Order: sequence, then C-alpha cells, then structure tokens
Amino acid sequence: MAEAICASEVASLPVSGWDQPCASETREQAVGVLEGGDVVFIPQLRFALDNGEDRLLTPAIAGEGKNISLDPASGVLRGSSAADTEMELLQGMMIRFASLSRALLLNLLPGYAAELTQARTSFRPVEIAGRSSSWRKDDTRLHVDSFPSTPTQGRRILRVFTNINPQGRPRSWRVGEPFAAVVGRYIHSIPGPAPASSVALNLLGLTKSRRSAYDHYMLRLHDTMKADLDYQKNAVQRQFEFSAGSTWIAFTDKTSHAARGGQYALEQTFYLPVDAMMNPAQSPLRILEHTLGRRLV
Ligand code: SIN
Ligand code: FE
Repeated sequence: MAEAICASEVASLPVSGWDQPCASETREQAVGVLEGGDVVFIPQLRFALDNGEDRLLTPAIAGEGKNISLDPASGVLRGSSAADTEMELLQGMMIRFASLSRALLLNLLPGYAAELTQARTSFRPVEIAGRSSSWRKDDTRLHVDSFPSTPTQGRRILRVFTNINPQGRPRSWRVGEPFAAVVGRYIHSIPGPAPASSVALNLLGLTKSRRSAYDHYMLRLHDTMKADLDYQKNAVQRQFEFSAGSTWIAFTDKTSHAARGGQYALEQTFYLPVDAMMNPAQSPLRILEHTLGRRLV
C-alpha cells in the first residue's frame, strides 16, 4: 500500500518574549520542527508598534511594489515611497524588528547562533489576496523559496514572520507536502544546468554570486510547482491562520507554502550553512544530492 503523505505541520511553542531565554524542551522542539520542514508558531509573540508607527500601516507606503526591504547592516531601505519623516519612522520600526527577530533566534536556536547570517528585513503592507503578479512571483501558489538573483549555494533560508495587522486579521497560509515528496514528484523531469551557465549568469550580473547546481534545481522546483495548476489544486495541503499579534518561523526553502491572504506583516531572512544544522541530512541540499547521486555545490 502506498504511504499516505500528510501536509506539513504547524507546531505551537510557548515562547513568552523576543529577548527571553527559552526552556530547553522548547529549544529542542523548535530545532526538530524546523529542520523537519514544519512551521514553528508562537501565538502570543506580538511585535508592538511604537508611538506614531500606525501611520505606516498603509499599502501606499510601498509605492508600486509589494514589499519594502531593509538591509539591516547598512540601514538602507528599498521600495518605499514614504516621505522623509515617515522614512525615519519606517526605518526605526524595521530595525527594531530586525534586532528582535535576531534575539528570538539566538534564544530559541542557540545551536545556530555562531553561523547565522542576517539578510534582508521586509515590511509587507499590501493585501495578498487579489494582488496581481506573474505566475512566477505569485506567492499564493504553493512553492519552496528560491530566488533567481540570490543563489544560496546550499545554505538554508530561515525566516521569521510577524503579523501586525491592526484590524485583528490573520495571515492565511497553506502548507503543502513534505520536501522529499516534492522532490520525488518533479526532480527527474528537470534538466540539469547547462555547462558554464552559472559563470555566464554571474558575469552578466544576473546573479549576485555563482548559481550552483543546487540553486538551479531549487529554482526549477520553485517554478515547476507554481506552474503546475493541477498540483496547486490537488496537492496535499492544509490551511493555517496566523493570528494578528502572532509570530512564526520556517525554513521556507523546505516547507512548501502559499500565502493566501492577509495584510501587514514583517519578515526577517537569515541564512544558515547546512553543516550548522543539528541534522544536515534533513537539508534540501543533502536530500537533492542523495536523490540525484551527486554533489550539487
Ligand atoms: C512567501 O514567502 O511566499 C510569502 C509569505 C508571506 O508574505 O506571508
Ligand atoms: Fe515563499
């Protein structure tokens, strides 16, 4: 009999503050949940707005785009059409979230601390449902994260999200089948990278660093899932509502996910080398290498 495939899980964990030590059972559970491809949900962990920051809660602040991004190292903001006074407020809010989300991960996942790289912070003020985009950028479709211009060369993409919707509206996600099932379904129909294509992409400035064979396969998995409408409709999936005032964490390069609705969230991306994981065999890199029988980075 074929083994039944279940959608990924969302596990609630009791974490009471951004900057508070977590119980050792909570820490152990968090690593297991995340590396296994499930989502850690922290229902009570609210990101509180400071005085005046509610002015930032308007989609107009993102101009034509859907997200505003911050480089937490330099403080440089991208994608905002805010006036100067609001720009400072926006920067302050995003820098505070960048620092709290880092504190949260250091408390919850201390085993990763030495190896975590903090990347972009984003503010997402636009309603997801009905937002127009090309199919490739349409995050309402199930996918695993992989980005054309930012190869990770196998490093993990770990993301912290918080819902700051002022009307109490949840952010709705669907989580899909386990990564190994996605790989089993599609990988053998995906052609390998063209020889020398990674060097050419890098020379042309289309990628920020070399696109490894791993990045090639991840990008193609992302695209193939999104383009397969039958899969989108019929794949095993489970809807989950992340309440306003809650926070959640996932390795979004492994957890198949689709953001279906909601407005006003903050997100912080981190990168983690595979060897810093508690169990590197659970990484997309090692799963793909095992399936294809060769090294991919
Ligand atoms: C995504 O990573 O696909 C979007 C998630 C979200 O904005 O809730
Ligand atoms: Fe995504």
